[in-house]
Amino acid sequence: MRANILLSPANVDELYFTGKTTVVIDVLRATSVIVTALNNGAREIIPVSTVDFAMKVSGNAFGGQTILGGERNTKMIEGFNLGNSPLEYTPEVISGKSIILYTTNGSKAIIKAKFSENLFVCCFNNLSTIAKHLVTLGKDFLILCAGTAGTFSIEDTVCAGKLITTMLSMDNSIELSDSARAAIALNKTFGKSILKMLKESEHGQLLIKNGFKDDLSYCSKVDSINIIPYYTSGIVKKFDNGSTNIEL
Ligand code: MLT
Repeated sequence: MRANILLSPANVDELYFTGKTTVVIDVLRATSVIVTALNNGAREIIPVSTVDFAMKVSGNAFGGQTILGGERNTKMIEGFNLGNSPLEYTPEVISGKSIILYTTNGSKAIIKAKFSENLFVCCFNNLSTIAKHLVTLGKDFLILCAGTAGTFSIEDTVCAGKLITTMLSMDNSIELSDSARAAIALNKTFGKSILKMLKESEHGQLLIKNGFKDDLSYCSKVDSINIIPYYTSGIVKKFDNGSTNIEL
């Protein structure tokens, strides 16, 4: 099994992902929102790459049970029901609902990777659950860090490094690309205090400035949730062996 990491989605096109097993990470905050929403009872998440499309597929689609969520420049979009703070996605608000999610980087990264054979969603909250699943699957995998506007984000790369480090403790024969080795080294340095790393990151600073300090504590929690979000046919759902490409 070989581990590789794309430090941002910028330099590849959609076809690059064909046939791959991919894990998308956007710690601040899209994948933390997806993991939280599914854990709190959302029926499914529909990631979209434009606000116009989000508006189009809401309304009567999905049995009228849709919620529009996401952000522009970290803030809730006019006409949407929820922003992009995982703390908003409580069971009372989202249980049984289909959530259409537009975010600046994270939802677009998932859509870019849509031709993957297997596509999982990860953040610190569900890290060990994804690690165990990938080890069981035993396939080469690619971690796609959503980054920010096509550039590197430390929080996504540290999370990717921690994911591979956790996997290596279960199977030390995993082969590593150069980017995987670099992410492991970054996790060794910055993964000791994830909250500090998030607070000092560029995106973390912006979130603090815009009033989302509590999101950083929430997103820093390792293994607080044990679900595997899986993307297939335009929708992210909780992993269910019967409805995926995976045979275990
Ligand atoms: C994104 O997808 O760019 C992020 O989730 C932005 C945010 O923190 O809201």
